[in-house]
Amino acid sequence: MKKVIVLLYRFYNKVLSFPAYLLFFLWKVDYGKKLGIVGLPVIQKNRQAKIYLGDRVKLTSKPRANLVGLTNRCILACNGKDAEIIIDDDSGLSGVVINARNSVRIGKRVLLGGNVRIFDHDFHELDAVERFKNSGNIRSKPVIIENDVFIGTNSIILKGSHIGSRSIIGAGSVVSGNIPADEIWGGNPAKFIKKI
Ligand SMILES: CC(C)(COP(=O)(O)OP(=O)(O)OC[C@H]1O[C@@H](n2cnc3c(N)ncnc32)[C@H](O)[C@@H]1OP(=O)(O)O)[C@@H](O)C(=O)NCCC(=O)NCCS
Repeated sequence: MKKVIVLLYRFYNKVLSFPAYLLFFLWKVDYGKKLGIVGLPVIQKNRQAKIYLGDRVKLTSKPRANLVGLTNRCILACNGKDAEIIIDDDSGLSGVVINARNSVRIGKRVLLGGNVRIFDHDFHELDAVERFKNSGNIRSKPVIIENDVFIGTNSIILKGSHIGSRSIIGAGSVVSGNIPADEIWGGNPAKFIKKI
């Protein structure tokens, strides 16, 4: 009986996540085995850009599935033909926005808390005239988040950030630059708090 219930539950989840898989197919998103898809994420990408979700990656896009208070669905946007978003095995995202023009690489078992934002570019030109002309001269630098990192809710990770393995970013932090492995950082701008 228990087995039947488990099978029915798995089937129910497969049906619910079907629209997400359709989206992955239409946008040519590559993915591994046994994804955990809760709710419908938003995907937008250049046809040649790459989005990869590793084995057992979990994307939560439903407010009731994470009671931290999700303000939006997961958004994976990969603009520019050479852009990439790579999320390695067993990582979890809740209402997370990743917007890449260059490269965002997330390691294994990384926890990205509710409403985290990761941007590898500034979205707009810094020079006012260029910005008004929308000249497309937007600066970008790759973002790397290594294995087993935990990023607290509502944090923003900016271009060029590199967060070392097992480090923790406190809730509501703004990270711009390098964070070594095995440390806790927090605040805006994020500062060293302690070694783990
Ligand atoms: C970073 C965190 C893990 C630290 O927890 P902790 O080890 O128990 O640390 P403490 O509460 O003892 O705080 C240690 C110091 O860091 C500071 N600090 C803690 N969290 C901070 C944050 N988010 N931003 C800035 N400073 C922070 C404290 O003010 C304290 O400073 P002090 O030593 O000058 O008094 C925790 O505060 C946090 O932000 N957790 C994330 C929760 C979360 O977002 N979960 C995900 C939900 S989806």
